[in-house]
Amino acid sequence: METAAIVLAAGAGTRMKSKKPKVAHEVLGRPLVRWVVDAARQAGADRVVTVVGHGRDAVEPLVQDTDVVVQAAQRGTADAVLSCKDALAGFEGSVVVLSGDCPLITADTIAALSRVREEQGAAVVVLTMDMDDPFGYGRIVRDPSGEVERIVEQKDATPEEAALAECNSGFYCFDAQALFEALAQVNSDNAQGEFYLTDVLAICRAAGRPVVALRADDPAECLGVNSRAQLAQATKVMQRRINAAHLAAGVTMTDPDTVWIGPDVAIERDVELLPQVMLMGVTSIGEDSVIGPNTRLTDTRVGRGCVIDETIAVEAVIDDGATCGPRAYLRPGAHLCEGAKAGTHVEIKKSTVGKGSKVPHLSYVGDATIGENVNLGAGTITCNYDGARKWPTVIGDDVFVGSSTMLVAPVTIGDDAVIGAGSVITEDVSAGALGLGRARQTEKPGWVEAHRQA
Ligand code: UD1
Ligand code: CA
Repeated sequence: METAAIVLAAGAGTRMKSKKPKVAHEVLGRPLVRWVVDAARQAGADRVVTVVGHGRDAVEPLVQDTDVVVQAAQRGTADAVLSCKDALAGFEGSVVVLSGDCPLITADTIAALSRVREEQGAAVVVLTMDMDDPFGYGRIVRDPSGEVERIVEQKDATPEEAALAECNSGFYCFDAQALFEALAQVNSDNAQGEFYLTDVLAICRAAGRPVVALRADDPAECLGVNSRAQLAQATKVMQRRINAAHLAAGVTMTDPDTVWIGPDVAIERDVELLPQVMLMGVTSIGEDSVIGPNTRLTDTRVGRGCVIDETIAVEAVIDDGATCGPRAYLRPGAHLCEGAKAGTHVEIKKSTVGKGSKVPHLSYVGDATIGENVNLGAGTITCNYDGARKWPTVIGDDVFVGSSTMLVAPVTIGDDAVIGAGSVITEDVSAGALGLGRARQTEKPGWVEAHRQA
């Protein structure tokens, strides 16, 4: 049977106290609504419709691969689903409704909702969970035989109803036809004056259509993000979930609590992650590399057998056997070729450091192409910026640059050249030559004695 998913993402989320709409807030670099859309797709949804409204300019670009429907005024969850009527005109099958503020829902659970509905021929399957503190959630009211009768919202609940522990997760699977027929009958006659999607259950039941509850295996999947505290809580759950998967796949972590890995990170086996490591964006780490401590890599590719110690890298490429840090900063376009080194207090931007070449200490390398087996002495700086434009530095193979050298770009150093320490190099240096650009040392014998104060 075909399945469509509706993702509700039109609410304001006032409790976030944010300029940004709630569903655009991120968990490990991925917006809340994106987690939900991705889970729906993974569960095999043939179509995904996202309902936007509040802050839609910020939300729409996040869900461009879905059918976007605008709910003009946020009149409640039933009204939000009803706004998808045209988008789903003629659709027959299962409609899964998901909250855009619940990023922990899994594809397995979404798939289970539609499977149970189809197996049982139900009009609705609602995912429920038992909460120690159910305050704020809708409660599942069952009849004496244990069948689901209706859902009552916190603000409409009697004290007896409020004492019920079984809560509505806000995730459902409906039969499309039953859903839209029932929605036409929902009114706003309740404490909040809103159109409640939850009323659809009682309406279906009154029409003699079966309504089923599915208890969630893991209530954490239903955690809704309504506040910054819940955002932190959801992030923590996601961190543990992602780390557990990498641990199971053969990655070592000294202290998983201090390791933060984004959802689009790939890590090969026998990688070791030391404390305080963040791997974000589309980052990948090859076999046997050791990362950390105190390292943040974003959109960075690390090869096999690398050692990356106290490093920050953004959009960098680090080939097999290269080493970084402690305290290296690789900026976009930095490329360390096989066995190369970016050492201590070294910043590299938009530059290639060739195979086996080393930039061991206190250097800035920008807009440079460095050949193989080059050694840049401590404090070497490529002066790539003249205040208006950036210029390139090209260094051949087997070059030795003495400490504290300024390479004033544009400048080219030929293969095998040697640059004397403390040089300011403003002209090209030929292959095999010694380049020197510094004042000659002078000596004044007896100067100290002659100038001694009487
Ligand atoms: C809802 C349920 C409640 C359940 C809880 C689980 C209703 C009436 N109540 O309550 O039973 O326990 O979720 O988290 O459904 N939204 C729109 N348009 C609107 C209103 C809401 O798109 O007009 C979206 C929100 O952005 C949000 C979702 O629907 O993603 C849920 O709305 P919210 O106001 O958070 O509902 P709750 O009060 O949490
Ligand atoms: Ca909510």
